[in-house]
Amino acid sequence: MNPLQTELCGLELKNPLILASGIMGSSVHSLNLIARDAGAVVTKSVSVEGREGYRNPTVINWKCGLINAVGLASPPAFEFAEELKDYRNEAPLIISLYGYTPDDFIMLVETFDSALPYPHGYELNLSCPHVKGAGFDLGMDLELSSEIVEELKRKTSNPVFAKLSALHDYISLAKALEDAGVDGVVISNTLRGMKIDILSGKPVLSNISGGVSGPAIKPIALKCVYDLYKEIEVPIIGCGGITSFEDVLEFIMAGAKAVQIGSAVYYSRRIFYSLKESLIAFTRARDCTISDLVGIAHSSTG
Ligand SMILES: Cc1cc2nc3c(=O)[nH]c(=O)nc-3n(C[C@H](O)[C@H](O)[C@H](O)COP(=O)(O)O)c2cc1C
Repeated sequence: MNPLQTELCGLELKNPLILASGIMGSSVHSLNLIARDAGAVVTKSVSVEGREGYRNPTVINWKCGLINAVGLASPPAFEFAEELKDYRNEAPLIISLYGYTPDDFIMLVETFDSALPYPHGYELNLSCPHVKGAGFDLGMDLELSSEIVEELKRKTSNPVFAKLSALHDYISLAKALEDAGVDGVVISNTLRGMKIDILSGKPVLSNISGGVSGPAIKPIALKCVYDLYKEIEVPIIGCGGITSFEDVLEFIMAGAKAVQIGSAVYYSRRIFYSLKESLIAFTRARDCTISDLVGIAHSSTG
C-alpha cells in the first residue's frame, strides 16, 4: 500500500506533493516531466487573451528565496488548451486561471472543459500581487470572488480551488468562498517585496516590486494553514517556502491535505522524487499514512 496516496476533491493523487503554478512556465513538456513524481501539477496562470508580462529582470534569486514580477505572462487560453492536449496525465492536472470579470473565468472553463479529454481541476488565481485588477485585487473583493466561484460551480463538474494570499483577510475570504461552493483553498501565493541595487540606487525588478517566495515566507504560510484548519471544512493546500520533507510534514500537521512546491524546483528538478522518498520512509517508520497526520498539531493545542 502506498502511504502517501490521497484524494483531493475527486482527484486521485499518488502523493500530496503538487507543483505550484508558474514555476515551469507554460510548456507541457515540463509539466509531463514533473508529473512523473508529483501528486498533481498546476499550470502557469492563463487568461482568455494572454499577456506578455513585464520586461526583464523579472526574477531575482536572493538569499532566502526568490522575488518575481513575471506579470502573468502566458499564451491565450485557446492556444494553451491545444498545447495541453499533449499532457500525458501521469498526475492530475490543475489549470490556473486568472481574469478580471466572472465572464473571463466562465470563458476559460468552457475553453478547457471542451478541449481536454481527461478530468482536471481549476485553480483560481485570486492572489497574484503584481497585476492590477486581477489576482490579489479580486481576492480583496469577497462578493466578486464568491460570484466567480458560484458561476463556475454551475458550469463545470471539475473541482474548483481558490488560491489566496496571506496578505488577504484570508479567514473571511475562505469562509465566503466555501459558502459559494469552492472545493478547496490554496494558501499562499507570493507576498509583496522588493530589492534595491545599491550601485545604481534603483529597484532591481523592472516592475519595481514583486512577489517573495521560498523559505522567507514559510512560517507565514504555515500559520495561515493552521488558522484556516479551525475555520473551514473544505481541504486546504499549503504553499510557501517548502524545500524539505520536514517542511511538508509541518504543513500537513498544521492541517493541509496536500502541499504545493514552487521555488524549490529552481534549486532542484529532482525535488519531488526526493521529498516523496523521504516521506515514504517517515510514514513507514511511524507505521502511519500521510492522511493520518493531517491536522495533528491541533490535537495538543485544542
Ligand atoms: C517565477 C514565479 C512565477 C509564478 N507564477 C505564478 C502564477 O502564474 N500563478 C500563481 O498563482 N502563482 C504563481 N507563482 C507563485 C507560486 O505558485 C507559489 O504560490 C509561490 O511561489 C510560493 O510558493 P514557493 O515558496 O514554494 O515558491 C509564481 C512564483 C514564481 C517564483
